[in-house]
Amino acid sequence: MYAQMVKSTGEGVRAREDMSPEERHFQDRVDAGEKIEPKDWMPEGYRKTLIRQIGQHAHSEIVGQLPEGNWITRAPTLERKAILLAKVQDEAGHGLYLYCAAETLGISRDEMIEALHEGRMKYSSIFNYPTLTWADIGAVGWLVDGAAIMNQVPLQRTSYGPYSRAMIRICKEESFHQRQGYDIMMKMARGTPEQRRMAQDALNRYWYPSLMMFGPSDAESVHSAQSMAWKIKINTNDELRQKFVDQTVPQAEYLGLTVPDEHLKWNDERGHYDFSEPDWDEFFQVLRGNGPCNRDRMEARVKAWEDGAWVRDGLLAHAEKKRARRVAAE
Ligand code: 3HC
Repeated sequence: MYAQMVKSTGEGVRAREDMSPEERHFQDRVDAGEKIEPKDWMPEGYRKTLIRQIGQHAHSEIVGQLPEGNWITRAPTLERKAILLAKVQDEAGHGLYLYCAAETLGISRDEMIEALHEGRMKYSSIFNYPTLTWADIGAVGWLVDGAAIMNQVPLQRTSYGPYSRAMIRICKEESFHQRQGYDIMMKMARGTPEQRRMAQDALNRYWYPSLMMFGPSDAESVHSAQSMAWKIKINTNDELRQKFVDQTVPQAEYLGLTVPDEHLKWNDERGHYDFSEPDWDEFFQVLRGNGPCNRDRMEARVKAWEDGAWVRDGLLAHAEKKRARRVAAE
């Protein structure tokens, strides 16, 4: 598998003969399926790639609270409100597990948050799209959490111990999120003609941005080859995108909704659906900060961080006071 990656990409992965003895030993451990733990020796590139990926993932969980948080006060029933509230709180918890996992690699949460606010770290493109109607909350749960699970289930087997353990917990909760989204879509799709129209409209707007969540096509992916050799990633972006389409199309059919892709067709020979690629120019524009909500999202996060400064200062002062008292008593 490792040798295959070198061959298929031709770049990005260090050849075994160019590795130092430590790197070779490290690669052997990864290939044997051993978990790498924080105090183990690791190549600097492995550490940096993990900080980038886990940090980006943590930021996505936190920024991802915004589009759904937008609907907590407007949920149609008390039950829907309680479910949505629980889901949004879960996302905050996921962000915290992931920040903790990244911190074991020698970066602080403050440094990661500063990098996010200064545009040096990314978060998932999907959260730069608006949630315009209640049906969008259904589509986000069904498609966005559905895509997130597709990507994250294999990451439970990732080589870095703290990341892998965080993913096991997160995946359990994500699966509830996906089901609550699908449940909203079922209600809407079987509701009044207007509710049905809203459900179809939400699918129309969220389909391609959900496909973009898996990252650029394999030909354009910068990090996949090395990340897969290190088992930081288990599948390529295109593999997961295809799996997501194959799983989601029958779900849309069950809802009686139409996937907005005139080229979507089951291909017997491949045993998969053929489908249209998303608009990659739009994807890269969103990554450059030019999506519909990029500016709002960052403003909201920076404001929350600044408004919360007094809480962090108070907690740190309290911890310092406790420490000083303990030292004085010793
Ligand atoms: N949004 C933003 N940036 C993206 C992206 C996306 N959907 N897909 C790729 N990119 C960026 C990469 O970060 C990279 O940029 P960088 O070099 O500046 O960091 C560039 O595009 C090239 O992409 P690659 O394919 O080379 O990047 P990766 O190998 O890192 O693959 C990934 C991208 C598949 C997203 C991978 O990082 C990954 O699996 N990450 C972990 C999962 C994750 O972050 N999920 C967030 C989803 S949202 C979520 O979980 C919240 C839930 O509540 C719904």
